[in-house]
Amino acid sequence: MDIIRVEGGHALGGTVSVSGAKNSALKLMAATLLTCGRTTLTNVPDIADVHVMGKVLKGIGAKIDVIDEHTLEIDTSAVDSWEAPYELVAQMRASTAVMGPLLGRFGRAKIAMPGGCNLGARKIDLHILGLETLGVSFDTDHGYIHARATEGLVGSSVALDFPSVGATENLIMAAVRAKGETIIDNAACEPEITDLATMLNEMGACVRGAGTPVVTIEGVSELHPVEHRVIGDRIEAGTFLVAGALMADAAGIEVVGFNPTHLGMVLKKLELMGVSYRRCDHGVRIRRASAFEPVDIQTLPYPGFPTDMQAQVMILSALARGGSVITENIFENRFMFASELVRMGANIRIESHHAVIHGVGNLSGAQVVAPDLRGGAALVVAGLVAEGTTEVSSIHHIDRGYEHFTEKLAALGAAVARTTVPDPVEG
Ligand code: EPZ
Repeated sequence: MDIIRVEGGHALGGTVSVSGAKNSALKLMAATLLTCGRTTLTNVPDIADVHVMGKVLKGIGAKIDVIDEHTLEIDTSAVDSWEAPYELVAQMRASTAVMGPLLGRFGRAKIAMPGGCNLGARKIDLHILGLETLGVSFDTDHGYIHARATEGLVGSSVALDFPSVGATENLIMAAVRAKGETIIDNAACEPEITDLATMLNEMGACVRGAGTPVVTIEGVSELHPVEHRVIGDRIEAGTFLVAGALMADAAGIEVVGFNPTHLGMVLKKLELMGVSYRRCDHGVRIRRASAFEPVDIQTLPYPGFPTDMQAQVMILSALARGGSVITENIFENRFMFASELVRMGANIRIESHHAVIHGVGNLSGAQVVAPDLRGGAALVVAGLVAEGTTEVSSIHHIDRGYEHFTEKLAALGAAVARTTVPDPVEG
């Protein structure tokens, strides 16, 4: 089996460039279905999830040319099906992001019902409620959701019970081809949604207020292909910033290729924890902190503290001078990382959706298992500061969302590498 092995204690220096944002690229790829023709996406991360979305699009008739490692040309002229098959949705929930565009294009969509994942139930009831308001009817049959807008999509007012990222995106992508105006109230405000709306408007749509809780969409009859650059990945950037706060050399490390504004709350919490940083061109320069102050954190929809940075920042809390609480408000089951960090010597107690953390002097290397994408990356980062060797397994989770993760860390001076070891199960 493949593992990532990390030798702790090596200082980091230099500059690291983050890739394009996974959570934007996937939706931008889906949005290309809203037009017939060749759309060019640049700064696309070369990660497993992008490959799965590519398979979904090819499965319904799209043609994808890989122009270079980070540029895709997606030709949707021959798309003639509206089905996202089970085997792909099971691999990646974000495949459900084709529902809105397929409804926008064909007035129909057949999507495998996404099961839960390590993070929790991951329901799509808000997607369905919102789309029903636009005139879509839903049936479920043999594990598939059949969505039909027999009278065509009709603009309407939708108030989301919770600012779901996925529901907001699917609604926007359906509403751009609906008759009349749609208003989404309590919409999610994540930067990836603004990136999606920017590309849709470049394609000829009329989306206003993206990035705010009220998004207004005037439906149009046609959209045209464009060339669009994916925004930088704020969560990948945040992961490297935490690595810098732990192990940067005297000069600090520079993390570039993203908009620091997209990490406002993360930078604020790092500062409160005693980490010094300064913004630089297209990024942030960060220094190693001599000590971490205990700070309570709760995950919230953007611009609140991102749940996708919860595991990474927990490493700092685990080494802080005192006790703190991290509260997870977005996903029911996102503390599996904590139990792996406890194996590395952290003192953490989980009480429902609170992690009660008492800082310890240091962490020690251990064999740990990546529970999910962000938890996996955080275990590698914890290995950078831990005494001795850390071996992280189930690294397929990390490959889903981090491009060349170990190579980028090694280029900063980390003693980290992927390697293959005999699978203990198979003996
Ligand atoms: C997106 O997931 C991201 N994934 C997640 O990143 C991120 O954690 C999440 O937004 C929150 O920021 C992608 O963009 C591919 P939600 P999404 O709809 O769209 C509940 C990563 O590590 N909910 O805002 O699924 C849901 O169960 C991943 O990169 C309903 O109950 O997030 C969850 O508890 C992990 N009903 C919460 O809301 C619904 O219809 C947030 O979901 C929809 C959501």
